[in-house]
Amino acid sequence: MKLNIAVLPGDGIGPEVTDQAVKALKAIAIEFDHSFTFTYAPVGAVAIDETGDPLPEQTLDLCKTTDAILFGAIGDPKYDNNPSATIRPEQGLLKLRKSLQLFANIRPVKAYSQLLEKSPLKEHIIKGTDISIYRELTGGIYFGEKYLSDDKNTASDLCEYSRLEIERISHLAFKAAQSRSFNVTLIDKANVLESSRLWRKVVNDVAKEYQDVTLEFLFVDNAAMQMILNPKQFDVILTENMFGDIISDEASVIGGSIGLLASASVGDKYAMFEPIHGSAFDIMGEGIANPIGAFWSASMMLEHLGETGSAQRLMEAIKKLTLDGIYLPQDLGGNSTTEHVTNAI
Ligand code: IPM
Ligand code: MG
Repeated sequence: MKLNIAVLPGDGIGPEVTDQAVKALKAIAIEFDHSFTFTYAPVGAVAIDETGDPLPEQTLDLCKTTDAILFGAIGDPKYDNNPSATIRPEQGLLKLRKSLQLFANIRPVKAYSQLLEKSPLKEHIIKGTDISIYRELTGGIYFGEKYLSDDKNTASDLCEYSRLEIERISHLAFKAAQSRSFNVTLIDKANVLESSRLWRKVVNDVAKEYQDVTLEFLFVDNAAMQMILNPKQFDVILTENMFGDIISDEASVIGGSIGLLASASVGDKYAMFEPIHGSAFDIMGEGIANPIGAFWSASMMLEHLGETGSAQRLMEAIKKLTLDGIYLPQDLGGNSTTEHVTNAI
């Protein structure tokens, strides 16, 4: 298979981990006789430094002409504590998601039996956890109207959703449940928010088309508690943008480290794959970043493009060598460097 892949390494450890994913993909290409072309483009703080724009026009254009996008990480501490910065690295990622209409962010969370002891949570609580989070990614409070009063003492962010935005991701979540354990949990705050009440109504309507799937509802505060009390109860989680952002970081603790987790952001036309961890400036350049989230993302990319055999091959390597604890990076309590793990894969 011939594939054109856009590589957007981004900031911090982003370039370190995407480089490893590209190496793994090159190895897969040899084994399966694929022809992969990788084209790099800047996004985030590095793009601001180079061009003044966190998502340069050329980067966006490239993404629109490739088969898939591999993304590293975004963010730079020099912007984090500067609330008055008007240009921010994160705007690059948000604009990319919005421009490419990547409305569904899928984040798998699994407790691998070999890594149970790595999680700060008790083994008997997390054992058997297997969750797929469907986070809405192009709407809600992230993209609603923003306001700052002239005297700069009052601010607001609007959380807005339309039926269509809720329907399209709901269909994906219900279809996913049909190939899993036939359960969808909608996480919302319908006891307080009008937008959440619309989510409940629309998701209930969509559910009628999937009679074999059970639909449950949880308020987000309770869901945050349930995630650490009894994560096994979840199969597919469906939720809006901000709740999904928060719940998925919380859920990542179950796997042992956020460094493991991957995500796919998909729309009707384009798809992007990225580890869910951030730019981790504290370990940048030390060669110890965990590349597994990036490998897993690459595997999700192959799966999405219909290359199931290649995707499984990469996943097998990840499971055999790293999840089995032979090559564990430091965030999982091991002492393998990024390079050790990559070479092993
Ligand atoms: C994520 C990240 C982003 C988000 C940031 C970097 C804008 O936390 O992908 O979860 O909030 O969506
Ligand atoms: Mg996040």
